[in-house]
Amino acid sequence: MEKLRVGVLASGRGSNLQAILDSSIAGRIDVEVAVVLSDVEDAYALSRAGAAGVPAVHVPPGRFRTKLEPEIEKQYIGILLGYGVEVVALAGFMRILHDDFLDAFPKKVVNIHPSLLPAFPGLNVQKKAIDYGVKWSGATVHFVSSGVDSGPIILQAVVPVLDDDTPETLAARILVEEHRIYPEALQLIAAGRINLDGRRVTAGPATTTGKSR
Ligand code: GAR
Repeated sequence: MEKLRVGVLASGRGSNLQAILDSSIAGRIDVEVAVVLSDVEDAYALSRAGAAGVPAVHVPPGRFRTKLEPEIEKQYIGILLGYGVEVVALAGFMRILHDDFLDAFPKKVVNIHPSLLPAFPGLNVQKKAIDYGVKWSGATVHFVSSGVDSGPIILQAVVPVLDDDTPETLAARILVEEHRIYPEALQLIAAGRINLDGRRVTAGPATTTGKSR
């Protein structure tokens, strides 16, 4: 099967990037990480990309705190298209993308989030889950739409919230599941198995070429 060219955007540690790289390099998924982009110069994600022989590019975000400057967002789009990226995977990328970015990759931008969406969108969600008193939390891979953490859900995984959990222990339990379901979700896309009907995502049978993706 032709490999799906994925561009990863990451702002920090990059453990989800590493899970995707590991699955790709081991041939478990029909995905090639074509380029890694970061808004943070010393993001460890960039080192991980370099170590895997994947182009790693830092593009400073400009003057805004929560989003990219529009001109800079155009640079991100240009770089991703220049590397032949078909799907953009946000992996701990801590900035909101404008519609122009989403329009450049229609229904092809995905994100991982450490809660069971639609519960607890936004930041510090493990603490929010504990403080709320939920007994179960988890991870969600979803398509990105213009709202925050609100697009159609591709895969979720559930973990228990234990009585003695701290945000850190819960985050670690969720992260194990993130590393499992993010490569799995990308493989569904690579294999052309995703059917999107309104908000509902279902996984159809694999095609032999993945070309229906
Ligand atoms: C992950 O837990 C990811 O789900 C979360 O940031 C962490 C990044 O870790 N993303 C969000 O909260 C996005 N709203 P990583 O850099 O080790 O992959």
